[in-house]
Amino acid sequence: MPVITNIDDLKRIYARRVPRMFYDYCESGSWTEQTFRDNTSDFDKLRLRQRVAVDMTGRSTASRMIGQDVTMPVALAPVGLTSMQHADGEIKAAKAAQAFGVPFTLSTMSINSIEDVAEATNGPFWFQLYTMKDQDYVARLIQRAKDAQCSALVITLDLQILGQRHKDLKNGLSAPPKLTPKTIANLATKWAWGIEMLSAKRREFGNIVGHVDGISDASSLGAWTAEQFDPALDWSKVAKLKEQWGGKVILKGILDAEDAKMALRVGADAIVVSNHGGRQLDGAQSSITALPAILDAVGDQVEIHLDSGIRSGQDVLKALALGAKGTFIGRAFVYGLGAMGQKGVTTALEVIQKELDITMALCGETNLRDLGRHNLLIPRDFSGVWQS
Ligand code: FNR
Repeated sequence: MPVITNIDDLKRIYARRVPRMFYDYCESGSWTEQTFRDNTSDFDKLRLRQRVAVDMTGRSTASRMIGQDVTMPVALAPVGLTSMQHADGEIKAAKAAQAFGVPFTLSTMSINSIEDVAEATNGPFWFQLYTMKDQDYVARLIQRAKDAQCSALVITLDLQILGQRHKDLKNGLSAPPKLTPKTIANLATKWAWGIEMLSAKRREFGNIVGHVDGISDASSLGAWTAEQFDPALDWSKVAKLKEQWGGKVILKGILDAEDAKMALRVGADAIVVSNHGGRQLDGAQSSITALPAILDAVGDQVEIHLDSGIRSGQDVLKALALGAKGTFIGRAFVYGLGAMGQKGVTTALEVIQKELDITMALCGETNLRDLGRHNLLIPRDFSGVWQS
């Protein structure tokens, strides 16, 4: 096994191990992938202020997200079809997160169900909700998350309709994969993945199959989304969902200060500045450049988290120094999971924590609480000079 020192090392192993269809599903943005690319490259525009001769003993990356203690403010983001990256992937990622002391978020579009994850873990996790036309199904889903004692509901607002990712259409993405000459040829080269998959608890959407009637093809993400997701979702429905849930609510997918103000109005406990990892509106701003305006608008009134583009502890530090209170990682943990299962997710978290800790120290800080814009060199045009 090669020595793993960064997230890219995990990505290389992941690319070799996982069937092309699921690698492409993870590694794509929508349309031209401009936003997908900007998410990572815009982090590089921020530079760090090095400080010296500061006592760096007794450092800690511990923090809190929505009032919960975390060993570092880096939650695992909801990722659909995680168990297609590695058998029982949601369970493995949840266990790794729990052992590490960071939140795990289970997607509505997961393979392992809410109940599977609750049974396999012994602490609370967060549940991510997509809203569907079928109100009864949504009510049942919320009740199932309550019964499983999920400690927050993450409502995703930026996917009422699916952004087009060309490769998913060309690959005929489905869970489980449909056996065509092309997929069979590729699967034949991924035998380790296949052997593990044979003993997986599930290979279909665990929160959906068996819980709703009349779906024409539950294996196809595109077909299911087009048929079932609620294109009429609006803020009054968001407020109603919050009421139905009755616990902590995180609104995910906010990129505009006006929407952040609306999120505040419906009483969100936190918002996630996110463009869904560049998978929805191509041409939208990167999350990290969108963050300052949202902080200026509502940062003192609601907890602000950020995702999209984080590939290192340095990226985490940059988001925190700008003013976010927490972050989420999507692909960074999927690479680890696909490469090495639960151990790979732990490795991804270890890599990020180590980078975060060393960067903090070399910036002359010993506690994440003390990070601020004074730790950054921010280009004058970082957030862009846009006209609308
Ligand atoms: C996602 N994301 C996502 N978000 C969500 O709310 N529900 C979901 O089911 C999914 N599914 C999903 C699948 C895959 C393969 C990816 C890569 C992403 C978005 C995710 O929660 C998060 O916003 C992004 O992954 C953050 O960007 P990075 O960290 O991947 O750059």
